[in-house]
Amino acid sequence: MRRKIVAGNWKMNLDFQEAQDLVENIANLCEDKQPDCDIVICPPYLYLEMVTDMADDTQLFYVGAQNVNENESGAFTGEVSAKMLDSLGTNFCIVGHSERRKYFNEDNAVLAAKISKLLQYQIVPIYCVGEVLEEREANTHFDVIKKQVEEGLFHLDVADMENIVIAYEPVWAIGTGKTATPAQAEEVHKFIRTLIAEKYGEDIAAQMRILYGGSCNAKNAADLFAQPDIDGGLIGGASLKAEDFISIAVQASK
Ligand code: 13P
Repeated sequence: MRRKIVAGNWKMNLDFQEAQDLVENIANLCEDKQPDCDIVICPPYLYLEMVTDMADDTQLFYVGAQNVNENESGAFTGEVSAKMLDSLGTNFCIVGHSERRKYFNEDNAVLAAKISKLLQYQIVPIYCVGEVLEEREANTHFDVIKKQVEEGLFHLDVADMENIVIAYEPVWAIGTGKTATPAQAEEVHKFIRTLIAEKYGEDIAAQMRILYGGSCNAKNAADLFAQPDIDGGLIGGASLKAEDFISIAVQASK
């Protein structure tokens, strides 16, 4: 039985005080509602230490970064390394979010290098894949996702593959209020699991957690999470409201 994950991607939102208030509210609600799933909070880099301190104090959630540089260290002004994240106690890191692919030109090759670097520091990558609207309309989404999965992950050996989380985020559903239907999402999740099984075997595929992301909220989460291959969610907008985020986590606990 795969334990579900509900991860909040705060993106580039909230000032420090707002971030502190949100994480405190999340911790209080967690204590109250006792969701039975892995909760991950992915704040901007600047707030990782504050959120990690809170995670250490409460033991109620894990902490993730939103990005990492693929190099070990050196003259990369403005960048943050896996070693730095590890030194703060960061547990997870989002890799290959569609916004990074689009606005920062991150391709599958650089994402594969980021994933290897994170694994070197025992940080669990949450590798994002997903098609844009034109690709879905042209019915090429399976090809696109296959390429993203193969080029981003298939350099890994079996042992590393056990420490990967995948997030399927159809780009047309991100921040648009237009969620993939549970059937549309399940079809892709199942496809991804089959790809993993073909390359790494049934056991690895069966334990791999595959999250859905894209306008997932307190209203639609239960139906999405009821699908056999959907193992939780990567939540954007709704993760900025403690009540909504924890309501989603409660729905993942059933
Ligand atoms: P929304 O939930 O705001 O659509 O964002 C999804 C997302 O991109 C999470 O990484």
